[in-house]
Order: sequence, then C-alpha cells, then structure tokens
Amino acid sequence: MNTKDKEKYIEEYNFPFCDESSKYEKMAKIGQGTFGEVFKAREKKSPKRFVAMKKVLMDNEKEGFPITALREIRILQLLKHENVVNLIEICRTKATQNNRYRTTFYLVFDFCEHDLAGLLSNVNVKFSLGEIKKVIQQLLNGLYYIHSNKILHRDMKAANVLITKSGVLKLADFGLARAFSQTKNGQVNRYTNRVVTLWYRPPELLLGDRNYGPPVDLWGAGCIMAEMWTRSPIMQGNTEPQQLTLISQLCGSITPEVWPGVESLELYNKIELVRGQKRKVKERLKPYVKDPSACDLLDKLLVLDPQKRYDSDSALNHDFFWTDPMPCDLSKMLAQHTVSMFEYLAPSRRPGHMRAHHHAAAHHHTGVAVAAAAQTQVTKPSSAIVEGYQDRVF
Ligand SMILES: Nc1ncnc2c1ncn2[C@@H]1O[C@H](COP(=O)(O)OP(=O)(O)OP(=O)(O)O)[C@@H](O)[C@H]1O
Ligand SMILES: [Mg+2]
Repeated sequence: MNTKDKEKYIEEYNFPFCDESSKYEKMAKIGQGTFGEVFKAREKKSPKRFVAMKKVLMDNEKEGFPITALREIRILQLLKHENVVNLIEICRTKATQNNRYRTTFYLVFDFCEHDLAGLLSNVNVKFSLGEIKKVIQQLLNGLYYIHSNKILHRDMKAANVLITKSGVLKLADFGLARAFSQTKNGQVNRYTNRVVTLWYRPPELLLGDRNYGPPVDLWGAGCIMAEMWTRSPIMQGNTEPQQLTLISQLCGSITPEVWPGVESLELYNKIELVRGQKRKVKERLKPYVKDPSACDLLDKLLVLDPQKRYDSDSALNHDFFWTDPMPCDLSKMLAQHTVSMFEYLAPSRRPGHMRAHHHAAAHHHTGVAVAAAAQTQVTKPSSAIVEGYQDRVF
C-alpha cells in the first residue's frame, strides 16, 4: 500500500463497538488529571442526556493503548453498582489528516453533577447530620461492593467521590485500582505502595507495606468522613515522613504494642517515627464532629493497625447509621444548588499546578504499572497540624 492508500484505509476504518466521539457535544471542562481532561458533554441525539468524557492520554505511547487505561476499563466493566460510577462506553475520534492519524479515546460515564471536594469547598453547601450519614453510608456501600469483588480502589479522596443531583453517591476514578487476592499458604503479595494521594494514604503504605488490602480504602473513608465536618482534608502532609507525623499526632505513636508486626514493615526502622504520642482521635475531632457516635465510628476507621481497622461491613453496622437522626435523602438540600461543584472548579481547594502527579510513572508499559508514583503529592503548602491551625483547617 502506498501512503495515500494507507491514509484512506485508516480514515475509512470502522471500529466495531467503538463509536465516534462526535456523537457527543462537549460543553465544559470539569476535571484535569495528569492523564487527561474530563469534559461534560451531551449526547447529540438525546440532548438531555449528559455524560462525562475522560480522555485517554496517549501522548507518549509507543506501544499502543496504555495498559493503565485498559486496567481501569476492565475494572469499570466488572463493577456495576448504584454507588460506583457507570461506564457507558469507550469512544474515539476519527483518525484524519488533521490529527495526524492519531485517534483519541474517551471513557464515557454517566454524568454526576458534583464531586464531594467541590461540595465541601463551598460554604453555602450545608449537610445536616442525617445527610452526612447518607453520604458515608453510600461510600461504605460502594467500598463493600468493590471489595467483595476483589477490587481495591487505592485513590480514595473527596474529589474521587461523585454525587448526583438526586443525592446518589458514586465512587469514581479507578485509574489506580487493582484486583487483589487473599494470600494463600504463607505467600505474600508484592503490590506497589506508591498509591493513594498522600493526605489520604494509610500508615501501612507509608511504612512500605506491599501486602496490603481493603483496609487501605477504609483509612481513606475515615479521612473523608472527618472531612464532612472539617471541610478540608484533615492531614495535609507535604512529605511522607511528615504525613506519618501528622498521623501519629492524631492516632498516637506507631509501636508494636498498638500494632503487632509493624516492626517487620520495610520502613519501620528507616524512618524516624515520633514517640510518646497519645491517641487523640476523639478528642481532636469532637469540636468539629460533636455527635458521639460519629466520633466513635471515626475512631474505629482511623486505626493504625490495618488488621484492627473496621471493614466496611462492621462500619455499616455501627450505631451511627442506626440511631436518630437516621440517614436521609440529599436531593432536597442539593436542589438548592443548581450549579455543578467540582474540585477543578473550586480554586480555593484545587491544589493547583503541583497537583497530584501520582500517575506520573503509571503510564509506562512496565510490569508494575503504578510504581514510582505518588510520593510527590506535594500541593499547596499547608500544614494544618504542624504549624498550627489555619482557617477552616482541622
Ligand atoms: N462521571 C462523572 N461525572 C461528573 N464529573 C466527573 C465524572 N468523572 C469524573 N469527573 C470529574 O473529573 C475529575 C477527574 O476525574 P477522575 O478522577 O476520573 O480522573 P483524574 O483525577 O483526572 O485521573 P487521575 O487520577 O488519572 O489524575 C473528578 O474529580 C470529577 O470532578
Ligand atoms: Mg481523580
């Protein structure tokens, strides 16, 4: 084939099961990750149907479709649940001379009006206790479902939690997710510990654990739950050691007494850990959280030892969800807010140009897809605890 024929072949090539993105009309940019932009769009043939289109970045691809995007798609195809974002389809641009015959692919999702980071950054959005219960209950339901399906999310944070205008919560961003297995007869897993945005990263990952499991997501759930009252992330470290210090200042010193076996984690003897810290979870959260059963549940999620940390099932059975005020529908409260709220659109909260490059290395076609990633979650220079309290910061 000569070049002309080749070009004609490519232009006319029909991908089965992969529609052209021109069936949607982009309306606004609502997100920017390391890997791609996210747009709100509408379906041309049914203009009342809104979707979110997440671009698959292929800039440096030499070996075809990125493996990390494939992993995300496979996981999203497996997970179908009320509290998990719904992947509708993958679509693509036509390869033409204009784009130098490079196709762009998009993940197309049902559109959700808000993300939790956007909502929490807006002081006009006020959650009642019953509404907070509903949010956290749905979050735990989503985690219960994905963990039952042997999937770890590994990037729990408020920006990855979506909320529809009718008040349904959806876990989103499975870009770092992976399947896990229970280890059999003494074998250990060797997953990368370079996952989870620093502020939401549990102590076992910070100490180099590579044989972790669902408790990593429940730590994040605890951080997000506290944030429902504090309105900003509760532990905003700038470095991994500093993050561990913040954790100890809240949850107490990390010792083999409170966490048997911690001494065998790779970094336990390499990082200088703060000693003599008392556990102050309830004491420090009480001024914000007030409700005693909420404080008690937080105290059971923000537990250093992952084996003792509550799982989603125990959390869902906690009194918090079964005492008055009971979890209540969010749609009425959300109806007062007609403008979408996203982290990306909230300048006060968006960590800006240094934002979250936890996927930086995840894009290569190496075996360990997400290695060498999340250590540089350095964002705004904040220091909620170490340098004293800031406005609205815990
Ligand atoms: N289905 C959706 N409906 C509405 N908004 C969405 C939807 N999916 C994503 N978003 C918005 O786009 C933002 C970014 O999307 P997502 O978290 O999936 O990718 P990302 O953060 O760019 O990925 P990465 O973690 O690779 O950087 C979300 O925080 C959210 O605000
Ligand atoms: Mg995200």
